Amino acid sequence: MGNLSRKARRCIQGMPYLRKELARRISIRTGKVLVAPTTYYVIFSGRCNLACPFCTIHTAVEPILPDEVMLRIVRQAAELSGSGFSISLSGGEPMIYPALYPALELAQKLGIDFGFTTNGLALTRANVQRVVAYNPFNINVSIESADAKINEALRPFPNGTKRSLDAVDWLSEEKERTGSRLSLIVKPTIMEQNYRSLPDLVRHFGKHSKVQINFQPYVGPREQPFWVKDLARLAEVFCGIAGAPAGRLFHYRQPADLRGIPGLHEQSSPPGQSQLPGFAGTQTQLRHWPALDVHLSQWRGAFL
Ligand SMILES: C[S@@+](CC[C@H](N)C(=O)[O-])C[C@H]1O[C@@H](n2cnc3c(N)ncnc32)[C@H](O)[C@@H]1O
Ligand code: SF4
Repeated sequence: MGNLSRKARRCIQGMPYLRKELARRISIRTGKVLVAPTTYYVIFSGRCNLACPFCTIHTAVEPILPDEVMLRIVRQAAELSGSGFSISLSGGEPMIYPALYPALELAQKLGIDFGFTTNGLALTRANVQRVVAYNPFNINVSIESADAKINEALRPFPNGTKRSLDAVDWLSEEKERTGSRLSLIVKPTIMEQNYRSLPDLVRHFGKHSKVQINFQPYVGPREQPFWVKDLARLAEVFCGIAGAPAGRLFHYRQPADLRGIPGLHEQSSPPGQSQLPGFAGTQTQLRHWPALDVHLSQWRGAFL
């Protein structure tokens, strides 16, 4: 019964998103704007407590979004979009942004679906309790591999892999303990250095895990060493994860395909934006960022 009423509640909560998605599709077809935004992506600054070699944003430490502007964005998004929308905060590292907690608090007060993307390093047990107390919509934790050697080559922080994996466990426990609606999403970026170990990352969370895994493609200059070299092998790896016949599910744009796609960087959401459950923004992302074809939806430890 509890399960049923939870599902019913989720359906009801999803209705405004569904209505907006329909209006958004009609807007795209007709060219008439019939709908306010369903997803707001906010980058407070590139400031970070890490310097990952595949990421460039951490060098952009200025400007930083003043606290009051962050809170104004939350308020004005609610005024403009009413219901059925979400705000996703990224950076840089949101856990070192002083306005994070006031923004979470305000979003909770206004009933807004608010989430953020983090490297998880500052998610101590105490911080996990503090964050989950605001009943956030989603938290994305970026981890490239469960293998510390691979993960810490890409995310250089001593013992950082354990810290981020612990953070995911604590978030999961806290979600369970408090009955929070939180969607907990692990976000690996698919790169030459980590793609072979991605099946182990899925296995790490297990078959019945509450943790979802949302793969995102690497985006960057062509000469970077992060582009996957052996695409056939990559396809095998992903089809293995998906349990699908090789070649059926998987499409990965090679660097050459990325050239000349208008607005790929300007129009698309920033690398690694949240992929929110439900209808929010999925088609728009695919439209603007064809590389997201690789997005294999969200895995709940679907294979073991
Ligand atoms: C820029 S980070 C900011 C949030 C936080 N610091 C973190 O790492 O999760 C947001 C997401 O972008 C991803 N990202 C960074 N550089 C990328 C790139 N060149 N291509 C694809 N994703 C990238 C990260 O892995 C992360 O999931
Ligand atoms: S990916 Fe995230 S954690 Fe890594 S440097 Fe970029 S902003 Fe920082």
